[in-house]
Amino acid sequence: MEKTWWQKSTIYQIYPRSFNDSNGDGIGDLQGIIEKLDYLELLGIDIIWLSPVYQSPNDDNGYDISNYYEIMPEFGTMEDMETLIEEAKKRNIHIMMDLVINHTSDEHHWFEESRKSKDNPYRDYYVWRGSENGPPSDIQSVFSGSAWEWDEQTGEYYFHLFSKKQPDLNLHNPEVRERLYTMMNYWLDKGVSGFRMDVIDLIGKEIDQKVLTDGPKLHDYLREMNENVLSHYPTITVGETPSATPETAQLYTGKDRNELDMVFTFQHMSLDERAGEGKWALKELDLVELKQVLSKWQTSLFQKGWNSLYWNNHDQPRIVSRWGNDQEYRDESAKMLATVLHMMQGTPFIYQGEEIGMTNIEFDNITHYRDIETINYFHEKKSEGVPEEEIMESIRTKGRDNARTPFQWNDDAHGGFTEGTPWMEVNSNFIEINAEQAIKNQNSIFFYYQKLIALRKRLDILLYGEYELLLGDHPEIMAYTRKWADQTLLVVANFYGGNPVVHLPEKMDDSHAEIIISNYSNPSEKPSELGHLRPYETIVYLIEK
Ligand code: GLC
Ligand code: CA
Repeated sequence: MEKTWWQKSTIYQIYPRSFNDSNGDGIGDLQGIIEKLDYLELLGIDIIWLSPVYQSPNDDNGYDISNYYEIMPEFGTMEDMETLIEEAKKRNIHIMMDLVINHTSDEHHWFEESRKSKDNPYRDYYVWRGSENGPPSDIQSVFSGSAWEWDEQTGEYYFHLFSKKQPDLNLHNPEVRERLYTMMNYWLDKGVSGFRMDVIDLIGKEIDQKVLTDGPKLHDYLREMNENVLSHYPTITVGETPSATPETAQLYTGKDRNELDMVFTFQHMSLDERAGEGKWALKELDLVELKQVLSKWQTSLFQKGWNSLYWNNHDQPRIVSRWGNDQEYRDESAKMLATVLHMMQGTPFIYQGEEIGMTNIEFDNITHYRDIETINYFHEKKSEGVPEEEIMESIRTKGRDNARTPFQWNDDAHGGFTEGTPWMEVNSNFIEINAEQAIKNQNSIFFYYQKLIALRKRLDILLYGEYELLLGDHPEIMAYTRKWADQTLLVVANFYGGNPVVHLPEKMDDSHAEIIISNYSNPSEKPSELGHLRPYETIVYLIEK
């Protein structure tokens, strides 16, 4: 496997709106991020993935861009952005931008032109279809309702897979791709180090054939992008690919493919939904399934590609509430989940607040929610007659606002996020759960993450060791090894609140076993001494031959 600058890195995602407000208007901003760079340096991360900061009317909080070359005024100015890049660099932190090119805002100049007339030079930048009997097809928007919006002015429909304020670009138009490459080069020249590519598996879509993801031209376009942009800089790239499988991941990230460095899998994220019914259809997680999915990615990409490792982002509920225990065992389960993830092969992503064990929010009614997907879903289900309590249960469990409440910095009003009124309410548990508390306590979740990040830099086995799942059928324990040269790394984790006994499948010679991290005091010194695990207990051994 080729070694690259970013393989030892840990990436930290910032959702700027909710991170830190520097001027009291209730909205996080770039100066707010700059103020917290020392905090991030202390944590030890290497790269910031910045959710979109471009000019946007915020129908989908910045994922609807109206100008790729301007900063959203609520977040600051281009000068602030340059300062952020520079100040981050002083601390050896790279900035990875969010690249949203499946669609723009309907307030983007291109779309404003495009909708004016059928022969406007920008017409073909988007997807327009005439139709006499209603929408051209039954394709549904991810944010509820038809993906086709009727536009009075020219009497045609335009296509939007997300909100109607996010018209899809037509990437089959070479001029569109050319302009996007110019824009990407502009940002790389400014000093950013790469891109997280929003729903990139959609850019080759053939709408008339109803092919949305994995269109026939998808990989051609990515290779063209690589040739025109990425190959000219030492970039890091990760594609958001809801449709990816371990097999297609190799097409994106394979060594000689010249496309992307990594992709985000969604396969583990859909295990707690009823198959085929979408994210809101709740189901308990089956640990055996989770182990199968994660292991398949680990083994399929070994020496062929590179995994991204994540539990959280701005679209997912908080992992400690989702698959841990955010009450009695919040501390233990947050550390256990972090361990299981960070000891695998790939590049770990931490989403803001994960490192202090922030939890899901429990708003009592829809008026407190801000996310367009959530609000549309609520109204759609209401109109279908679904009982409100049932809708709210799905929203409390899966809604994206779980991840988007303001960062909890300290126990001042609004968790120290703002001196004004926050754009969304802070989680009321900020009195106990906040960064200031975490930094005062050497045993906190924060310092545990710090240690995981440092281990990745110190131990090559974490980067290159071959993965093998142990106890695959055990319903409560996750265990695996990594093997590299003369070393074995053994990860053991209790995923639940019981006391299961560990029976390792084979006797290891563990006379030279050392514990490199664990989340309880007095863990069993050697793998052979392992008996019952405590609730959410995890231990990692490094064994030398
Ligand atoms: C991606 C983003 C999500 C956004 C959507 C449309 O899934 O992560 O936040 O709403 O794309 O851009
Ligand atoms: Ca602000």
